[in-house]
Amino acid sequence: MAGKQANHGKQVTARAWANIALCKYWGKLGPDNAPATPSLSLALDGLATTTSVTAINRQQDVVLLDGQPAAGAARRRVLEFVDRWRTYTLVSGHFRIESHNDFPTAAGLASSASAYAALTVALAGHAVAELPTGALSRLARMGSGSAARSITGGLSALGAGRDPAAQLLAPAGEVPWGMVVAVVEAPAKEISSREGMELSRRTSPFYRAWVLTDRYHYRELAGALKSWDLAKTGELMEENMLAMHACMLTTQPALIYWSPATLAVLHALREWRRKGLNAWATIDAGAHVALLCDQRDLNKVAGKLKALAEAGAGIRQVIPCRPAGGAMVIS
Ligand code: DP6
Repeated sequence: MAGKQANHGKQVTARAWANIALCKYWGKLGPDNAPATPSLSLALDGLATTTSVTAINRQQDVVLLDGQPAAGAARRRVLEFVDRWRTYTLVSGHFRIESHNDFPTAAGLASSASAYAALTVALAGHAVAELPTGALSRLARMGSGSAARSITGGLSALGAGRDPAAQLLAPAGEVPWGMVVAVVEAPAKEISSREGMELSRRTSPFYRAWVLTDRYHYRELAGALKSWDLAKTGELMEENMLAMHACMLTTQPALIYWSPATLAVLHALREWRRKGLNAWATIDAGAHVALLCDQRDLNKVAGKLKALAEAGAGIRQVIPCRPAGGAMVIS
């Protein structure tokens, strides 16, 4: 108890970057977000979450998201996550948790990845013992599967299995590529990734084919990434995304995450590629499109998307991103 009292007021602030998967995690083997499919991702410097965790002398945790008290499912999820840390006796007492995204949260961009990675690292600053990166990645995964990969950042892999941690394949500084994110007009997401992937597992006739296809893509992508083969990586990344969306579309109820603007970007991209642009698309459980390209082409790709936005394609924001590092304590 004395220890707890002494810590009141202690604040740890951490930052983490969202990641976009080149090979997707969609499906769980069991509890704790145990992934059924292996995944590979790139952390992006344009999509950061900053989270402060302060020890408080209260009987419950306080959660603020972008300055507003959290409510409903988002609040419950954070409280359950912190409870788990207390159950594991990694931390004691209660906390005020304040989290800010520097990108549009409501847009449904991979925000749970950066959110749970930043929260994990900030909570770890209050833990009774130092936690190695593998343990941090496993803990972050329990908050959100994709968050495991934002702990390591750069180009990271998360295997399928009961309790995997992400592995760093290449730090941000070694990755020659980036992504341009097109935030498109889309209605609010009705079904979250969490619910959606469980529905896919239970109802999609393509689910087993998706899991096998993803494992094949993962092996092939690992090979293409070794030699930084952008064209091969881009093609495999698109195939993987389309296979995942085929599984989503054949889920009951159908998970139709795309909006007209999503398709406008995909069609324009094919045309740009025919004319020599080296960029490939991926889409998470949402309508937004991320284009993978060489870092030297980031401005060119962003320019194409901005022109498409001006032509009325329904693109709200264009965010060029370079690779980002792993989650870190900043104060
Ligand atoms: C389509 O990590 O958000 O973005 O583990 O239930 O929190 P939970 O799901 P989440 O799912 C991410 C799904 C995805 C693909 C990916 O990032 O690999």
